[in-house]
Amino acid sequence: MQIAYAKTVNKELADILVLGLFQDEKFSQVAPRFVPQLDAAALADLDKLLAQNGFSGKKKESADLLCRIPGLPPRIMLLGLGEENDYAADQTRKLGAKISRKLKSLKTPMTVSIVTRAQQNAATVAAICEGLILGSFSFNRYKTKNEEQNTNVNHQIYIVMPDLEQTKFEQGLHFGSTVGTSTNFARNLANEPACNMTPAHLAEIASSLISPNLKCEVKYRDEIEKLKMGAYLGVAMGSAEPPKLIVLKYSPPQASKTITLIGKGVTFDSGGLSLKTASGMETMKYDMTGAAVVIATLKAVAELNLECNVTAIVAACENMPDGKALRPGDVLTAMNGKTIEVNNTDAEGRLTLADALYFASQDKPDAIIDIATLTGAIVTALGRTAAGVMGNNQELIDSLISHGKEAGEKLWQMPMFDEYSDTLKSDIADLKNAGARGEAGSSSAAMFLREFVDSTPWAHLDIAGTAWTDKERDELPKGPTAFGVRTLCYLLAADLLN
Ligand code: BES
Ligand code: ZN
Ligand code: ZN
Repeated sequence: MQIAYAKTVNKELADILVLGLFQDEKFSQVAPRFVPQLDAAALADLDKLLAQNGFSGKKKESADLLCRIPGLPPRIMLLGLGEENDYAADQTRKLGAKISRKLKSLKTPMTVSIVTRAQQNAATVAAICEGLILGSFSFNRYKTKNEEQNTNVNHQIYIVMPDLEQTKFEQGLHFGSTVGTSTNFARNLANEPACNMTPAHLAEIASSLISPNLKCEVKYRDEIEKLKMGAYLGVAMGSAEPPKLIVLKYSPPQASKTITLIGKGVTFDSGGLSLKTASGMETMKYDMTGAAVVIATLKAVAELNLECNVTAIVAACENMPDGKALRPGDVLTAMNGKTIEVNNTDAEGRLTLADALYFASQDKPDAIIDIATLTGAIVTALGRTAAGVMGNNQELIDSLISHGKEAGEKLWQMPMFDEYSDTLKSDIADLKNAGARGEAGSSSAAMFLREFVDSTPWAHLDIAGTAWTDKERDELPKGPTAFGVRTLCYLLAADLLN
């Protein structure tokens, strides 16, 4: 798919004209700005065509029409944007996704012009591009008969913006396509079966991203032992796959601020000896989504040349049952010296994150953000709609929530009441790893993590509910969503689109 700028629509620019319309909007009134060659008769015909089809521009409404009006392409796709007062850039993101979904079913390359009266700025361009790219995602590398060969069809898309300078357009295009492509990159990683996506393979992929400002360091088991990352190593004990500590560092010249991202990278979570049920572990290859998200974010940050140091840390390992596996009741000593009684080997993510958080805090970054498919409890609390956010710094949390809004990803803050740490008290060690079953599980997990962060501003995103979708929803095709790439990119690139 190619996306380009156009100031107006002409016949050559479109096999399909897409109109994103607000509720009860008469397109004929705005048409001359976008399609100057239309005469009065054509404008009247256009209004008639829309009216005949009963299209009113409500949110989610769509129609696909054949058109015989001189000066207009043969096919018009109408997409409703709802009330103009409720408009947010995310609607154009969803519009983009709808278009690319439609294009997936067309086997021949099409030229498509997108026209909407929605705000003409870089942010809208970015959102449309993201939608187009996100909606086009498919994963068919394991299909021997390539059923979706049309994904290779190279459609040419024009976004028509008569009132936007081309340089602003290019800014939005570059940002949106980088964020969209990086998100799809993370989706590919999360979709990869665990037999292939091992900690070593994940490390290889991270290493393959290096560029002059982006360095990658991978620490092997002996170095992880030297660092005394006992909690992390405990999780890796039962797996034939050795752990890999991945550190990706983006440091452009002249940057002063440093943000560290930590992604949960459990390449498969069987639960360990506290074994999950068959259905509970069916999709646990995606327990490394947090890792995929932070690695993809670093890829985006480097491509966008952002002026901020960003580090991604992944304590990658696999959680398996075995003769050598961690047992319930074992006591581990974390890198910060705290002892942890493991009452449930399925609460493994927080063990890996504990050491990653302490490791990250030693470099004294300005902020640490971890992202993890951490608890089933967040799925119960917020469903597949929103991720949970917690932390020790309200400003950072608020900033994540508001950048999430811009990016079209919903975050909801969960409480960290002191009482929640009561359930993490151990009789024999400093802490237990799992709190009381069925009681504020996402919050107690965050309370556990807090034990490993010093005073550095820190936020924790629990994406267990939002990292995967069983049904297609707007810009999210079925499968891995890579939730978080967009929010993190918008946060790190703040002000870039203005
Ligand atoms: N990876 C799971 C969390 C998860 C659940 C992710 C469902 C995606 C969908 C995590 O390691 C886990 O098993 N957590 C336990 C913690 C409990 C034992 C305290 C859980 O949520 O049940
Ligand atoms: Zn688990
Ligand atoms: Zn897990």
